[in-house]
Amino acid sequence: MNKMLYSLIQTISKFRSDDSISRDSNRLAHRHQLKQSGVKGMFGRLSFAVVVLVICTVSLLSTVKSTTKSVSRSEIDVDTLWGTAASGGWRPSSAPRSDWPRTGFHGVYDVEHFIKSLRYDVQIVESIPEIWKNGKTKKIKAFQMRPPRDAPISWYTTDALNKMKEHGAIYLTPFSHRLAEEIDNPEYQRLRCRVNYHALRFKPHIMELSNSIVNRLRAQGHFMAIHLRFEMDMLAFAGCFDIFTPEEQKILKKYREENFAPKKLIYSERRAIGKCPLTPEEVGLILRSMGFDNSTRIYLAAGKLFGGERFMKPFRSLFPRLENHNTVDPTGEIAKNTRGLVGSAVDYMVCLLADIFMPTYDGPSNFANNLLGHRLYYGFRTNIQPDRKALAPIFIEREKKGHTAGFEEAVRRAMLNTNFGGPHKRVSPESFYTNSWPECFCQMSAANPADKCPPNNVLETLDSQSTAGGIGDSESLTSNSTFVGDN
Ligand SMILES: *[C@@H]1O[C@H](CO)[C@@H](O)[C@H](O)[C@H]1NC(C)=O
Ligand SMILES: *[C@@H]1O[C@H](CO)[C@@H](O)[C@H](O)[C@H]1NC(C)=O
Repeated sequence: MNKMLYSLIQTISKFRSDDSISRDSNRLAHRHQLKQSGVKGMFGRLSFAVVVLVICTVSLLSTVKSTTKSVSRSEIDVDTLWGTAASGGWRPSSAPRSDWPRTGFHGVYDVEHFIKSLRYDVQIVESIPEIWKNGKTKKIKAFQMRPPRDAPISWYTTDALNKMKEHGAIYLTPFSHRLAEEIDNPEYQRLRCRVNYHALRFKPHIMELSNSIVNRLRAQGHFMAIHLRFEMDMLAFAGCFDIFTPEEQKILKKYREENFAPKKLIYSERRAIGKCPLTPEEVGLILRSMGFDNSTRIYLAAGKLFGGERFMKPFRSLFPRLENHNTVDPTGEIAKNTRGLVGSAVDYMVCLLADIFMPTYDGPSNFANNLLGHRLYYGFRTNIQPDRKALAPIFIEREKKGHTAGFEEAVRRAMLNTNFGGPHKRVSPESFYTNSWPECFCQMSAANPADKCPPNNVLETLDSQSTAGGIGDSESLTSNSTFVGDN
């Protein structure tokens, strides 16, 4: 099994051009997959295309120059040809000249930490080892395999393992949603938690940026983070068109046709059946009905809001103290350092560390799902998960009639039935990634022996047993030691 996972993890190093944090941080499996052809995925391909373009341009320019030179020559001096050409002060260099983004897994995650913290589970290497064969060293060529969606563990221990024995190495691709979520073995589920909540850690500079944002926000009391998923790709995917102008609807429909598999959706019903992300105004109305006042400090993790300011205005009038990673630091220093994927990583950390977290969509949004599970693991931190299906008719009624008297009361009643965190049984279709209780939790004094916490020094014990020696540096696997600088 270890060998097999070794190769699983190894495939990660092939994910370098994959820019989706959500996919990276949740690689082992997932529920419904939103086609990743969105902006982020494109960015990866785009930056690759840019590299190719730059190389072509450079080689073209140098060809032009040398051609010009040879044309102006009047005779050939054979002696000079034995030497190299005059450089004119030029020397080769392909090093990046600016803050060239290092994207993908290596760009945002602390790879060394990842490898080290899983050392008792799998051996992770960054390239396939060479083998000695017929008196020569040789690279093993990985055999490419396509794991079935939500494959059971047995697929890996039979099909994949056999191929691995046969070829020496296997390359599993694609690798999203490739292992069933419900595995009837708590040890494997705990391995998932070790990977997701301990081994995957952002690079130190991302942790520092996140901490500095959190400290700024917390200097003035507690704060809430909201993942406002109101972007074109999500709205198009969910088929939520009704609230938009005809022009905007055209854009969304076009995006949907171009990026997602055709599916018959009754657009006029999508919102009523709870399939649409909350609008910014709805978020404001929910929070106001729950009793949060206009002094509430809110950090917004959001991409480009579709429909723009028209949708933000009513929200801002309810909750004026809004911040995001661009506004939180008046000097602009944080904004400068949180571009692209790093910005998403920072948003993730701020949402993780916030006192309260509220997602506005829980469909195939890996970012929000991961956070819900991560916050639960990280100490039952409050999550506000609105039941959009229960709320939709209340909002629709309000729009039809104008502000109705019982509106806030109705919203409050709907919110009372939602879960704000705390241990609770996972009920299908709830994902293991949003709720790893009870597998990844234990009790100090447990009535049931199976729930009892293992000794705190379990890694030290493993270290001392380890024959390799020198790995040392144990880190507890309890949640409170995972993050630097959180208070
Ligand atoms: C918050 O609401 C109160 C009235 O309820 C108002 O006096 C105050 O100016 C508002 N604060 C902000 C920051 O808008
Ligand atoms: C976790 O935090 C609690 C209190 O915050 C502390 O008592 C406990 O020792 C910590 N555990 C570890 C392993 O750091």
